[in-house]
Amino acid sequence: MSQIARVKTGIPGLDKMLNGGLPKGRTILLSGPAGAGKTTLATQFIYKGVLDYGDPGIYVTFDEDPKTVRQNFSGFGWKIQSLEKENLLALVDGFSMRAGVASKEKYSIRLEIDDLLTTLIALIDELGAERVVIDSLTALAISLESELRIRREILKLSAVMSSLKCTTIVTSEMSQSGEISRYGVEEFMASGVIVLDIQEVNQRLMRSIYIRKMRGINHELIRRPFMLSGDGCIVLSSETLYM
Ligand SMILES: Nc1ncnc2c1ncn2[C@@H]1O[C@H](COP(=O)(O)OP(=O)(O)O)[C@@H](O)[C@H]1O
Ligand SMILES: [Mg+2]
Repeated sequence: MSQIARVKTGIPGLDKMLNGGLPKGRTILLSGPAGAGKTTLATQFIYKGVLDYGDPGIYVTFDEDPKTVRQNFSGFGWKIQSLEKENLLALVDGFSMRAGVASKEKYSIRLEIDDLLTTLIALIDELGAERVVIDSLTALAISLESELRIRREILKLSAVMSSLKCTTIVTSEMSQSGEISRYGVEEFMASGVIVLDIQEVNQRLMRSIYIRKMRGINHELIRRPFMLSGDGCIVLSSETLYM
């Protein structure tokens, strides 16, 4: 049996947990509570993908306006404007129409799966994109009225993304009760689930990361410390967890 091709995440320590990287062409759910670091990890996956691995990338933002997303990138010293000009990175504005304001961006979409997919299909072709981030699935799901529609649309998203052969990270806000998926289908539709967590230990908030599911890969089942710094995010060895 041939091995699944891998995509380096650009997050120090994470590829080792994955035994080489994310499975190429699959859709991965990145789940966790607010402030755990989902947006940062996803941002780094796209930025390092372009810079270190030569993979053009697309970042779809529903949660934050594009100006804030560019600030998020530059907060880690990552300037994306030149990459955008060179067509190596595309920022898709899903925020403005959601907020009911006119978009000033080159690429903007409505908060709808069909519009998202049409735009992605065209952009993946235009850029030769290898990596896609959708931040977040939660925003997209909230726009759908019934749970039945949410399930149907999420399955459609998953099916189309897998046919496009891009490695996709979809972020998902974890509910208070700590359930990985709000609608009961996200974690089944995804080929893999990576969980980010933020928990109080001795009156300090500690971030951690673990791989809950990754089809076809012999990955680690260890919760490791996950740190955010001025250079981006990094996974540390588990010995330092909860010290
Ligand atoms: N330059 C930075 N250095 C260190 N930590 C940062 C920096 N920028 C943001 N953070 C941390 O990242 C957090 C935001 O993480 P984010 O990736 O947006 O989480 P999520 O998307 O899971 O809600 C902030 O609350 C802050 O603690
Ligand atoms: Mg976020």
